[in-house]
Amino acid sequence: MMDSVTILDKTFVKFIPSAEIDAAIQKVADQINKDYKDDDPILLVTLNGAIVFAVDLLKKLTIKCKISCVKLSSYSGTSSTNVVKNLIGLTDDLHGKRVLILEDIVDTGRTYQHLVDMLTEAGVKDLRIATMTYKPEAYKLDLPIHYCAFSIPNKFVVGRGLDYDGYGRNLPDIYQLKIDD
Ligand code: IMP
Ligand code: MG
Repeated sequence: MMDSVTILDKTFVKFIPSAEIDAAIQKVADQINKDYKDDDPILLVTLNGAIVFAVDLLKKLTIKCKISCVKLSSYSGTSSTNVVKNLIGLTDDLHGKRVLILEDIVDTGRTYQHLVDMLTEAGVKDLRIATMTYKPEAYKLDLPIHYCAFSIPNKFVVGRGLDYDGYGRNLPDIYQLKIDD
């Protein structure tokens, strides 16, 4: 029997098991530990989705670092909207800092572009992104994705911080929207 969950009106099937996610996050952490060994970066957590990934990743980081948070919104239900809103903007002075954005997912890249504009204006020294999941088929930017635990198909997913209308973030595995055909 297929492992599935129902959230509101939709059914999702298990896609990436928890242990596989842990292992992939460890690989990302190993790389970040190498690349930022002699630096003192700010990890910029995008609330709410990246909370779970950020906690998992932070526990595996051995470098000297600080965290800061922003809260943006571009999603409604299961589709992206055109407008990215700043619900909580930058609260720390990031001028001259190395900043590593932490994301749960990069979809079209609209949110990433918004963050790049915001952080460029704030005068950061260096900017990279680490994301738990990335949808290459949906991505519309030329900007590089520096660290990525999973490249996934262009289907809606929940779990491990990812939500459907606010629900499902607490699922330890990642689930994919079930399409009946
Ligand atoms: P983008 O701006 O199109 O890259 O979308 C980024 C934001 O949309 C993410 O931070 C998520 O909050 C949300 N998002 C995109 N795809 C999914 C998905 O498959 N499941 C849950 N949220 C998603
Ligand atoms: Mg979201």
